[in-house]
Amino acid sequence: MYTLKNASSLKGEIRIPGDKSISHRAVMFGAISKGDTKITHFLNGADCLSTISCFRKLGVEIEQFDDGGNVDPNGQNVIVHGNGLHGLDYPTEVLYTGNSGTTTRLISGILSAQKFYSVVNGDDSIRKRPMKRIITPLTMMGADIVSQQGNDCCPLCFRGKPLHGISYESPVASAQVKSAILLAGLYADSETRVTEPTVSRNHTELMLKAFGADVLSENTTAIIKPCDELHATQICVPGDISSAAYFLVAASILPGSEVLIQNVGINETRDGILTVLRSMGADITEVNRNDNAEPSADLLVKYAPLHGVTVEGDVIPKLIDEIPVLAVAASLAQGTTVIRDAAELKVKESDRIESVTKMLRCFGVDVTPTEDGMIIQGQEALSFAAESPIESYKDHRIAMSAAVAALACKEEVPIDDFSCVDISFPTFQTLINALTQ
Ligand code: S3P
Repeated sequence: MYTLKNASSLKGEIRIPGDKSISHRAVMFGAISKGDTKITHFLNGADCLSTISCFRKLGVEIEQFDDGGNVDPNGQNVIVHGNGLHGLDYPTEVLYTGNSGTTTRLISGILSAQKFYSVVNGDDSIRKRPMKRIITPLTMMGADIVSQQGNDCCPLCFRGKPLHGISYESPVASAQVKSAILLAGLYADSETRVTEPTVSRNHTELMLKAFGADVLSENTTAIIKPCDELHATQICVPGDISSAAYFLVAASILPGSEVLIQNVGINETRDGILTVLRSMGADITEVNRNDNAEPSADLLVKYAPLHGVTVEGDVIPKLIDEIPVLAVAASLAQGTTVIRDAAELKVKESDRIESVTKMLRCFGVDVTPTEDGMIIQGQEALSFAAESPIESYKDHRIAMSAAVAALACKEEVPIDDFSCVDISFPTFQTLINALTQ
């Protein structure tokens, strides 16, 4: 349980943890490369630690260090001693992916091509999440995958097979699906193409290139050629824009706030929250921009009155994980906000159309769930009158979005099962405390 008090404003400068998507990929791609991959500002969230644990079970040596170079199981500096593309070992245990959809789906692309048998399983949430979206294309490539309970969910059993290249039209814009196919494509006998309805995050394409793979993006299609070997590299993980989003919204809705968020990843396939918050009237400035393959910048956010907007179409995959906290911003914006084309919300860590609706209603917000989003009526203030604590549904993004709403609410707000924030943002409470001092 975490109880939050009203904060009149947020002030200060913070450094947020490393990007979750990039941290996962750095470990995975390092594991199947030749040589030592050095990762800095790695996210020590439970999800990325699940990725490390799975690759250790596949025989990869992975070390974590603190900034002073001492061995530290929670260190943000990681060395992956890669086994090469064909060097993973047979795992004697189930590969447990915890709550992590990214670990589950991406590792599936790799396991499909290995010469051994393996089993992937995760927590209650993972066991409900749809895996048909990866089973279908990977099977088309020749993979042998069985959903143990016949429900197209985890546990999944892989019997490694030789794979062939395919040209796949994905029905969903999903980086996890795209990445699973591209990773399998590294092992295929010919080129593999994935076309999406709209472009999803492109971290896999950018990072595989840095590891030496022949990968190309043409509009909404990603193309990969089979590869003999990947080569270790150095990855500096930028701060996670999905984690920055809580502070972008909190500072935008609390009068008098001014927060500088250092080193935030602003990859153009991830920056939808900046586009939409600015279109609502938010005052967010980029300073110290760094144009690496994964660009980053410090973001200065100041309080500004917001107004409602319609959020739809191509921007949705660019902010899909930020919709819960965007909904909090919409609750305090002038006018109505309509979110549509976001049916993917239903298959996240929780059904986020339902969980966001229920969470906002606890704050007295007028919100109508729809098939592919929600309609939110902005109001002057939030209030909390419920007898029981707000539920997080053990979904980290719901927990943190509720915390942001709580900061703007005059009553004290208890939030249940708050420890799930460790999935992506273990320092969330520390940073809230630092900015509300
Ligand atoms: C992720 C992709 C997104 C996102 C998830 C992380 C990734 O999911 O919601 O939190 O790292 O590839 P989909 O690709 O399924 O939309």
